[in-house]
Amino acid sequence: MSRTWVDLAYLIAAVLFILGLKGLTHPRTAVRGNLIGAVGMLLAVLVTLVDQQVLGAGILGYSLVFIGMAIGAGIGAWLAITIRLESMPELVALFNGLGGAASFVVAGSYVSAMTSAEIPLDTSFATALSGLIGAVTLTGSLVAFGKLAEHPLMKTLPKITNSTVTNAIVGGVTLLLMFVCAISRSNDVFFWLLVIASLGLGYCLTVSIGGADMPVVIALLNSYSGLAAAATGFVLENNVLIISGSLVGASGLILTQIMCKAMNRSLTNVLFGTLGPTGETKDADEVYQNVKATGPDEVAMLLDVARRVVIVPGYGMAVAQAQHAVRDLANHLIAKGMEVEYGIHPVAGRMPGHMNVLLAEADIPYELLKEMDEINTSMEQTDVCLVIGANDTVNPDARQPNSAIAGMPIIDADKARTCVVIKRSLSPGFAGIPNPLFAADNSLMLFADGKQAVLDILSALKEG
Ligand code: TAP
Repeated sequence: MSRTWVDLAYLIAAVLFILGLKGLTHPRTAVRGNLIGAVGMLLAVLVTLVDQQVLGAGILGYSLVFIGMAIGAGIGAWLAITIRLESMPELVALFNGLGGAASFVVAGSYVSAMTSAEIPLDTSFATALSGLIGAVTLTGSLVAFGKLAEHPLMKTLPKITNSTVTNAIVGGVTLLLMFVCAISRSNDVFFWLLVIASLGLGYCLTVSIGGADMPVVIALLNSYSGLAAAATGFVLENNVLIISGSLVGASGLILTQIMCKAMNRSLTNVLFGTLGPTGETKDADEVYQNVKATGPDEVAMLLDVARRVVIVPGYGMAVAQAQHAVRDLANHLIAKGMEVEYGIHPVAGRMPGHMNVLLAEADIPYELLKEMDEINTSMEQTDVCLVIGANDTVNPDARQPNSAIAGMPIIDADKARTCVVIKRSLSPGFAGIPNPLFAADNSLMLFADGKQAVLDILSALKEG
């Protein structure tokens, strides 16, 4: 295959990646977008295989490549089928880490193969960058995975007491090694020393960040994995790797920015600050003095006479896998002539679009899903707001300047005429602070598993 045809095929693959990303920006087009991106990747892989074989650029043979692809595809398919949706960020963390590792291993093998020749300076810099970013991504992602999965091994790993100083020292050594490695041109000893230092840096940078901020860190590491791949693309002079790596790098950064904005926090605050109770946060006993508990029958009676109902889902709905029960309840209310809508907070759950994906899985029409700003305009005209497993995203404490979540935009569930909160206890959400909504005059608490509670309300409605 001539260079022109290869580049043309790579260009088509790149266009497919961009169209795929565009499709992923809306739930309605997301599946098609994913498919388009996958076709682009298949084209890129096939062309690379043919190109390498014809140009004799050192491919070891198709059998090894296909065995590798079969093993990888098998593990990938098994993970995709068995993973629970709320564990998706952990899976993404692992994928990012493996992407980073692949980048530095490829760059390393290039350096090892070139020890007798002098690598051009720009390629040498790209190799060093690939080693640095790829290795940081690997250990950073493994720590993020361990924290999110609450893996017991995390408790045995060394803690870093003065993380700022440690990060500065390890970061300084790593940067120095990167320059030495780049300038030495073809020395693989420096390259692997750089990789070891970068593995340490990835660990140090991530281990001090709280588990609560891990989804943001994972989005950032996703961006790093793309940058590492792009650097490796420069090493191999592979245009499609440069383009796809840059797309991942840029989209990961944009996602990080969106998540920070939705939590009203800066990236530096996520990476170097802390989230959690400040000195001014009220004690839970004090906040929860006037909590009123309710049961499915009372909630059914409230719903029976309501005209407008808003359902606000949160992480607990994902844990309870209550989406199908919620759809049945909503359909029942709609059939009785009620207006039902869903209020979706941008960071409800544990990943961007978490609630949209769950509700789409239960075939809930997109038209009923309203974004936070839109649903808030009609909260005061809402008879019953049903909060299912959401906590921080409906915490009115965010309106207080001294709160740990001060300024975080919330769904105004407290402004509905009656608010029913379904969760198992008064335990805090992700941010670890009490929620005054649970004790508000117009609030009722239904202490139960999300799915069971919704099923019980539906039975009571049908019986009543
Ligand atoms: P959270 O504030 O995490 O609260 C979830 C609540 O669900 C918990 O209080 C828990 O209370 C309840 N729950 C758990 N299992 C349940 C079950 N089986 N049935 C019923 N309830 C159950 O959730 P949220 O409101 O969705 O907020 C998301 C949080 O994640 C925010 O703080 C956000 O900043 C953070 N975050 C999200 C993202 C993205 S992109 N989504 C990224 C970074 C951070 P009980 O234990 O009492 O039941």
